[in-house]
Amino acid sequence: MVQSLNLRYRTAAESDQDRANAIFSGAVLVYRSLPAMHALVGCLREITLLEIGLNDPCSAESMLGSREFRRRASCVRQTVRENINVGRLYKKVFTEVGVDVSAIFYDHFKLRFQPSNEATRSRYMLDLPAHRDTWGSNIHSQINWWAPVWPVTVDRTIGIFPAQWHVPVSNSSADWSYRELMQHLRRDESTEYPMLPQCRVPPSPAEAVPVIIQPGDIMAFSGAHLHCSMPNRSGLMRISTETRTVSAHDLFYSRAAKNIDCGASVSHFDWFRHIETGDSLADHGSRGRNQCV
Ligand SMILES: [Fe+2]
Repeated sequence: MVQSLNLRYRTAAESDQDRANAIFSGAVLVYRSLPAMHALVGCLREITLLEIGLNDPCSAESMLGSREFRRRASCVRQTVRENINVGRLYKKVFTEVGVDVSAIFYDHFKLRFQPSNEATRSRYMLDLPAHRDTWGSNIHSQINWWAPVWPVTVDRTIGIFPAQWHVPVSNSSADWSYRELMQHLRRDESTEYPMLPQCRVPPSPAEAVPVIIQPGDIMAFSGAHLHCSMPNRSGLMRISTETRTVSAHDLFYSRAAKNIDCGASVSHFDWFRHIETGDSLADHGSRGRNQCV
C-alpha cells in the first residue's frame, strides 16, 4: 500500500530553523507561485527554447533524432550551469522563502530532461531509480529543491517513497566511491559504474508518490528521502530544474535527518559552494561536530 506523503503548502516565508525542523522530520514543503520562481522558469524556458530550437521542447524527442536531441540537450544543461541569471534568480527564490542566503551552499543549478523514448536517454537523462541523495553526499543536513519548468503529470515527474522515511533500505553506499566514479568516467564516458549508490533490491516505482506541482512552484525535501524519477512513457519530455543546498546554520546546530542506512565513510562537503562567495563548504568553519569528513 502506498503511504501518504507529508506534503505541506507554505504561503509565507519561514525561518531556516522552522524549515529544517519540518524537512528533517520528513515533510515535503511546497512554496506556491513565487514571483522569483516564475522569473526563474521564464529564464530557463528562454535558454531551452533557444538551444533546442523548437516551440515545444517537450516534443523534441519526436521532432529531432535522438542523437541531435542529446547534443542540443547537453548544450542547454551547460548553458544553465554557467548562466549568471539562473544563479541570481535561484538566490532570489531562496530569499523569498526565507532562507538566509549568507549561510547557504549549493552544488549546481541543473536543468534536467527526462525523455520518454528509450533511445533518447543518455547517462544524464535516465529514469533515476530509487535512492537517497545522502547515500552519496553523506551530509544529512542536505535539502533538495525541485521544480517543473514545463507542466508535469503523474507519469513524468519526481516520486517519493514516504514509507521508507523511517525504514532502512539495503544499499551500496558503503562501497560506492565518487573518486572511483570520476576515474571510470575519465576512461570511458559510458561506464556502467553507477552515478550514485543504489538500492540492493529497488522498490517498484508504483510504491512512490508522484508529486505534481505547477511551474512557478518549488518543493523542498530532505536529501534523505528515498525518491526516484517516475518512469516516463508519456510520449513527452519532462523538463525540470533542481539543486541541492546545505545551510551552515543547520550544520552548526546539528539540524539533520536521522541516518538510518547510509554506510558511506566520506562526507562530500567539497560538492557544495557558497552561493555568494563561491567558497567551498569543505573550507567552512561552522560544520557541526558530528559531521566529520
Ligand atoms: Fe536525487
